[in-house]
Amino acid sequence: MITPKMSDAINAQINAEMFSSYLYLSMSAWFSRTGLPGFSSWMRAQAKEEDFHAQKMFDYLLERGGKVELEAIDKPEINWESPLKVIEAVADHEAKVTSLINELVNCALDERDHASNIFLQWFVSEQVEEEASVGEVLDRMRLVGNDSAGMFAMDMEMSKRVFIEPVGK
Ligand code: FEO
Repeated sequence: MITPKMSDAINAQINAEMFSSYLYLSMSAWFSRTGLPGFSSWMRAQAKEEDFHAQKMFDYLLERGGKVELEAIDKPEINWESPLKVIEAVADHEAKVTSLINELVNCALDERDHASNIFLQWFVSEQVEEEASVGEVLDRMRLVGNDSAGMFAMDMEMSKRVFIEPVGK
């Protein structure tokens, strides 16, 4: 059975993942209001992915006999200065999530909880991918700058991302 310390730490991360989902949904609404439906759709796919992360932790905690205790989700930001500022905020947020995941791994090592350590490795790899993916979007936005034709083309491309739940999660 999972230790109370590890259980509480994963339970807290469920809330952090739900907050990420909420934040990205708020960003999706902002992009929609701003006339960038492709970015809005991309953020919505990101929100679904965060929801999946929360569910994955939720299932794991139950499987290990831990205590799931859902907490209130903080209100996310609702306004940003520009599309670039939103994506910068996503990059910053993902960097914070990476630190949280690393802390969870440290906790698993402290608790000598090998099962949680193995479980969390999936999230360690996922964070590498998430930071790379948003970093790529950020680089391209900086290149596009204030060129509206470039932004329009990028918006079209952003609409292509869909979130597909991994098989055998
Ligand atoms: Fe659940 Fe984007 O990290």
